[in-house]
Amino acid sequence: MKKIAVLTSGGDAPGMNACLRAVVRTAIYHKMEVMGIVHGYDGMIRDEFIKMDEKSVANIIHRGGTILKTARSKEFMTDEGRKKALHNLQKYGIEGVVVIGGDGSFKGAMEFSKTAKIPFVGCPGTIDNDLAGTDYTIGYDTAINTVVQAVDKVRDTAESHDRLFFVEVMGRDSGMIAMLAGIGAGAESILIPETKTDIQQLVERLKNKRKTKNSKIIIVAEGDEAGGAFVIAEQVKKQLPDYDTRVTVLGHLQRGGSPSAMDRVNSSRMGYAAVEALLKGEKNVMIGIIDKSIVYTPFEKATKQKQKMDPDLLRMLDILSI
Ligand code: F6P
Repeated sequence: MKKIAVLTSGGDAPGMNACLRAVVRTAIYHKMEVMGIVHGYDGMIRDEFIKMDEKSVANIIHRGGTILKTARSKEFMTDEGRKKALHNLQKYGIEGVVVIGGDGSFKGAMEFSKTAKIPFVGCPGTIDNDLAGTDYTIGYDTAINTVVQAVDKVRDTAESHDRLFFVEVMGRDSGMIAMLAGIGAGAESILIPETKTDIQQLVERLKNKRKTKNSKIIIVAEGDEAGGAFVIAEQVKKQLPDYDTRVTVLGHLQRGGSPSAMDRVNSSRMGYAAVEALLKGEKNVMIGIIDKSIVYTPFEKATKQKQKMDPDLLRMLDILSI
């Protein structure tokens, strides 16, 4: 393999740049040429290819976002779009592709491989940590640290006013961010899509909570079945009118910022492993890290099975938040 391409795709995540740096430098070490594709699959279709060298990835390991830019490409989901993308890859003589993205990006790669022979290897770039085949996705650690810092700040004002706060966090249909951030921030409760949300039970829990603790923080995953934080807060308020209730939606600030040390290290390992996987002849696999070791998981499995939620963590959160 003499020439590869790399792109970032889907929602940006802190650590994507560190991963990109590792891909480019590992490829150069193996005497390969590397093209960067700007704007993800959209750029593959619209011919936004740029030559990358050691210098083009200098000074980016600490930067959030992605210097290659990203997109959620609708066009790549069409036959016409993928045909154009293949044409451009062939035009530049690309023999392998590293895609840094989440489940939508890997589903796109699987579609592509039905008609095209160019192998794709993926690095899990998403703050959601919702893919099977890795303990941590790129950006997850930074995002949960961001949420914990934000909730600490909310706690200051919540405690000062004796308020009940509902803090909504990202994760699409996964509660992984809510779970670890909830534990780290000492939340009174977390509401996640993986478990049934019983508003009545939440109300009872809030009534019985330690009387000496005046502020209460409930973390709500955006994908929770009971609706968003505003909906849930309203339902609770109806039953507990004495609580002074507020809602904070953390939103996209969870996606930004300088990647944590752990994200930088994991991203570097994954980017490096992705290039070596292509050289070994792997295709349609996602690079992951499980119990500190690099593992390959077929895109099919990584996108279908999702991360498993540890029920013991939920139990622990309940016990510790009394
Ligand atoms: O997948 C990452 C993520 O931040 C999700 O947590 C969230 O649901 C979604 O992306 C938001 O997407 P967008 O930035 O396109 O609004």
